Amino acid sequence: MAMRSSRGCQERSMWRLGSIAGLVFCISCGGGSGSPASPALPSSPDAISSDSAFFSFVTQTEPFTSYTPFPNLSGNTTDILSGSSAHVPRIRVSMNAKAFGALQNGRIPSGATFPDGSIVFKEVLGNSGAPSVYAVMYKDRGNSLEGNGWLWAEYRTDGGAEYAVTNRGGACTSCHSLGQGPRNDFVRSFERQQ
Ligand code: HEC
Repeated sequence: MAMRSSRGCQERSMWRLGSIAGLVFCISCGGGSGSPASPALPSSPDAISSDSAFFSFVTQTEPFTSYTPFPNLSGNTTDILSGSSAHVPRIRVSMNAKAFGALQNGRIPSGATFPDGSIVFKEVLGNSGAPSVYAVMYKDRGNSLEGNGWLWAEYRTDGGAEYAVTNRGGACTSCHSLGQGPRNDFVRSFERQQ
């Protein structure tokens, strides 16, 4: 970035050869990031932009197997619930450390939002108890694929997309806005806490 600016700067100053104004321009240009001549930096250069990137993020970079169970969802030891109409028959919900850190006494304070980088992960379990689908919400307000501030997707366990992140949560956000969704940053498992 800095190199590109200063190269542009040299060209401009050569064009203004011998001109004091050109020299002054060049110094301010080389001065760096605050200059209006510098192109804006993308807010998040490594932003997730595809299903393969999203799936590998939640299975390898920050694997869901390391997440914390969503607090107080169920009294049983395996933390499995009957799924809502969207995901039957049974589910297990967990969250990464970033999301968990936003909770106070197991709740998101009313009206607060999860920080960018938060992940809430739902395994949809078949009758055998084995996961068949993963539903994922990843907080990234600056991502062009966000819907209500989250990335939304569903994956089969082999990584194939059931619901692509590029849909921007179009099939997800309206239901996640029902009930207590809006005051819980669209995370609906809070309504199922005991
Ligand atoms: C018909 C309503 C409905 C639709 C549509 C829906 N969800 Fe959900 N979702 C819920 C409810 C209710 C919960 C709370 C846990 C449960 O009952 O399954 C939930 C839970 C989740 C969770 C765990 C975090 C949380 O909010 O509690 C994720 C992740 C999730 N859904 C992702 C999705 C994605 C991705 C889509 C779209 C492809 C989607 N959901 C569509 C109702 C819905």
